[in-house]
Amino acid sequence: MMISKETVSALNAQVGHEFGASMQYVAISSYFSQEGLPELAHHFQLQADEERAHAMKIVQYIVDADGSLQIPSIPSPRAGFKSAEEAVQLSLDWELKVTQQINDLMDLAIKQNEHLTRNFLEWFVTEQLEEVSSMDMLLRMIRRAGESGLMFVESHLARKIHGGTAETAAS
Ligand SMILES: [Fe+2]
Ligand SMILES: [Fe+2]
Repeated sequence: MMISKETVSALNAQVGHEFGASMQYVAISSYFSQEGLPELAHHFQLQADEERAHAMKIVQYIVDADGSLQIPSIPSPRAGFKSAEEAVQLSLDWELKVTQQINDLMDLAIKQNEHLTRNFLEWFVTEQLEEVSSMDMLLRMIRRAGESGLMFVESHLARKIHGGTAETAAS
């Protein structure tokens, strides 16, 4: 095995967190659908897909490094929100928590002089900057628009997704 048992167990835990994020975003997406906000629903569906891809990236790393994959049980996501702001605030808090988890994984890799894992985790370190900053921007927009102005956020997202901007192509 190319990586330590300790690393494998910490990575398995992170697989659980990423799948947990994916399920949380599915729950938030369905909340927005119920609220008649299809673009926000679609946005969170895409986030859910991304989180699943993160989990699978870690799964592949564990398998490639000949570690044993043990996906932990995943807590039910929260369902039912008071407002769009509450749902997106929860998402931002989640992203900040994941950033801390990735930092902790990196600390562990550094402590163990495990360069392979450090190199693998670099991608996640960079990814979290984008995840946190885009969620933070969405929260600011929702606050500015207010519950009655959410259609403004909807049309912004529609332009971003269907307008074929470079930003969309990159994300
Ligand atoms: Fe993630
Ligand atoms: Fe994320």
